[in-house]
Amino acid sequence: MANRRRFLSVALAAGSTLAAGELARAAADGGDDRPNALGAPLSPYGSPSPFERSVVRVATTLTPTKFSSWDFTPLQDLHGTITPNGLFFERNHGGVPEIDPAEHRLLVHGLVDNPAIFTMDDLRRYPPVSAIHFVECSGNGLTEWSKPTGKTVQLTHGLLSCAEWTGVSVSTLLRDVGVKSGAAWVLAEGADAPLMDRSIPLEKMMDDAIIAYAQNGEALRPEQGYPLRLILPGFEGNMNVKWLRRLKVGSAPFYTREETAKYTDLLANGQARMFTFVMEAKSVITQPSGGMQIHARGERAISGLAWSGRGAIRRVEVSTDGGNRWSAAQLQEPILSKALTRFVFPWKWSGEEAVLQSRCYDETGYVQPTLAQLVRVRGVNSVYHLNAIQSWHVASDGTVTNVHA
Ligand code: CO
Repeated sequence: MANRRRFLSVALAAGSTLAAGELARAAADGGDDRPNALGAPLSPYGSPSPFERSVVRVATTLTPTKFSSWDFTPLQDLHGTITPNGLFFERNHGGVPEIDPAEHRLLVHGLVDNPAIFTMDDLRRYPPVSAIHFVECSGNGLTEWSKPTGKTVQLTHGLLSCAEWTGVSVSTLLRDVGVKSGAAWVLAEGADAPLMDRSIPLEKMMDDAIIAYAQNGEALRPEQGYPLRLILPGFEGNMNVKWLRRLKVGSAPFYTREETAKYTDLLANGQARMFTFVMEAKSVITQPSGGMQIHARGERAISGLAWSGRGAIRRVEVSTDGGNRWSAAQLQEPILSKALTRFVFPWKWSGEEAVLQSRCYDETGYVQPTLAQLVRVRGVNSVYHLNAIQSWHVASDGTVTNVHA
């Protein structure tokens, strides 16, 4: 009975009470709302409702062209933990190539016993594996190091998405070609205009790496690497090479442009951190978040996302007073390793100013840092790997804005 009473109180807080006459009219067959014409016909491929037209990826003006650029997932408008394929964030370094899968090949060579060229048909003959994992650009939050800049959670955290990936285990493929002794690194190269490439530890490739051809049940979208991309669960987005055309096994890193001039983290003392692969534990409140307006006082669920490149999320805490007091949020199932986890936290807003924050703990015991703690260790030269606690200020008029608390 306690649960039922609680549900009713929330329903009354959120909705509006109806007079008996209104109730009767709303329930009656043949009211004003009754459909009086046929709806739309069947369609070969579904699209969102026209009323959801504002739920789109957005780009920023940080890059001079749309061809070596990125756009952001609308986290504030999404539910659960899976990102719809059309809203999965984009990042490319030379535009989206159009690749005919019948022509596409994957070359595996270097320190292997049997160098091989795989067609898409060859790859589909292997037993498929499926796994749900997030992908986050290591530049996610790049504008947020020194001052709060992004107006919405889309712009502060939207280089982050999560999908079910299906393909072939890299370990299966590498066992098939036979890795020679002395092998320790693998170069992964894309078939895009700049032949984007990264060095990956062999250990990671033999652990949980996937050569994916499908995402959320359908073939990869072109902007996500159609027809093949590498998925390295928990590793920075840039290493999840799209339009994958080549794996070269070697004994040392290859020191490509994307892991020397870029995706290397310059510290305050002039030293640079290289090969910073793992995306450390991070969380953010998406409801409510920057740019929103809270219209009604009373009960309202706070909700957000937590994730860690080192494994599963164990705990999320929420503060509504800028980090003085913290309370445990509820984690929604499923809680998967290296995947987005949804948390919810009941809140009652009485019209007072508030600063909303979340902080997460992963299964290794790692705790998401404050921005001050992170800056003390990393400085502000690098834009990569910002995983600090995010603060949203709620004004007494209900306006929600991005702040540094
Ligand atoms: Co890195």
